[in-house]
Amino acid sequence: MNRYSLPLLSAIAVGILVIAVNLQAGGAKGSAWKPFLPDDAFKALSERSMQTIEEAAKSADKNAAERIEVEAAVLAGYTLSVKNPKDDAISALRGAALNAAEAARKNELKKLIDFKKSIAAAPKAPAEVKDIKTYLHATEPMMKAFLSKAKGGEGIHAELQYQPKLKNLNGVEALLSTLASKKISDDNLAKVSKELPLMAYRVAVMGSITYEFAPKKGAEKWREYSAAMRDSAISLAAQTHKKNGEGVMKAALALESSCIDCHSEFKNK
Ligand code: HEC
Repeated sequence: MNRYSLPLLSAIAVGILVIAVNLQAGGAKGSAWKPFLPDDAFKALSERSMQTIEEAAKSADKNAAERIEVEAAVLAGYTLSVKNPKDDAISALRGAALNAAEAARKNELKKLIDFKKSIAAAPKAPAEVKDIKTYLHATEPMMKAFLSKAKGGEGIHAELQYQPKLKNLNGVEALLSTLASKKISDDNLAKVSKELPLMAYRVAVMGSITYEFAPKKGAEKWREYSAAMRDSAISLAAQTHKKNGEGVMKAALALESSCIDCHSEFKNK
């Protein structure tokens, strides 16, 4: 080894280290978005979102604007979770969702009464989210959707109310904790086989949206919990499709843990 090679080697070693650290930082950031949403689920869920937006726009509900903003963000989230988020029709639907979120914020709800008709002419929105706040101002109104209907949540589909208790509580949070605490019977699993995957995909998209809201302090943990929320919800859908009661319970438990983990670290802080 001559006398130049040691400094040279050290310089190369430092260079490699810097690249490795940067790669790791980039890797840890990951991405909020994954192409997990099957076409038929996308069609059913986005149709429901359009309906929800139009109905809220027609209603005199005092929370209509906030509900529309959340629904528009979730609708945009669906368009970011399909296999082909850059397709023209998908990008126009995302653009329409963005318009709806803006209109809701300005309290111009009348514009959204015929929301569906506005979609074809909407400007295409890119498949990269630069600032999630253009779609939704904060996570809180979206989190509220998980509460029981009586507490202002969005409730669960009638086919998911497979126990009297769930009919009363009528909320996503209550359903998840019921699924997590006891293995669902085969009969009940058959009853929820259509609606549970749809609800799970919706929760997964909300996980992706949550991911985008990582605060400066504790960003990595926040992203870890929201990725866990997204991925265990995807798994809940998959296990339901497989009619695997044990798998449904495990996925629901993992999903519930992601909520609890994040809340204990970030809620009321
Ligand atoms: C990555 C963090 C994170 C994850 C994951 C998360 N939450 Fe939250 N949640 C929050 C924070 C922070 C709040 C406090 C209000 C706010 O800032 O959104 C909250 C508030 C709530 C509220 C109270 C809403 C209100 O204002 O009364 C409910 C209900 C809720 N979350 C349900 C859930 C459920 C159910 C899940 C899992 C399926 C979940 N959350 C996953 C961070 C998270």
